[in-house]
Amino acid sequence: MDQKVAELLKDQVNKEFFSAYLYLAYSNYYYEKTLDGFGHWFDVQAREELDHALKFLKYLQDNSEPVTLGAIEAPDANFSNIREPLVAALKHEKYVTGLIHHLYGAAKDASDYRCCQFLEWFVAEQGEEEKNASDLVAKYDLFGGDPKGLYLLNAELKGRPEATTGQTATE
Ligand code: FEO
Repeated sequence: MDQKVAELLKDQVNKEFFSAYLYLAYSNYYYEKTLDGFGHWFDVQAREELDHALKFLKYLQDNSEPVTLGAIEAPDANFSNIREPLVAALKHEKYVTGLIHHLYGAAKDASDYRCCQFLEWFVAEQGEEEKNASDLVAKYDLFGGDPKGLYLLNAELKGRPEATTGQTATE
């Protein structure tokens, strides 16, 4: 495998674990505020990120690339209001989209079409993740300012289904 592509894939393992850790911190923040629906929503998101990390790890293993797991950075979860994590999550997803696109570009430049195909799932997934995060900010802005609206939104978020294993990325 092209070494630049391999290094970017290895970095991405760490970044996906960081995303899981970040969303666990957000989930924890909301549980502490007794907003269990928001907490659950980010809990599910954290598990999706863990799944992403494992997909990158498995891809490297399947392609005989040795991986050394590094330290995961501590997430920042100091917020002054309950809207901030939602905006931070959207910003984070846009950042991750940039990483995936950069990785895709590097794989393409290296003519690593197998890696491009592997990454296509992530390109689509990032579109969904940005939309989910953006919808959440929009819903909060529409309903979250009013206690009853916030109560109902929290109840709705409690219904977010658990993440699937997303086997399609490695099949
Ligand atoms: Fe793994 Fe939210 O991107």
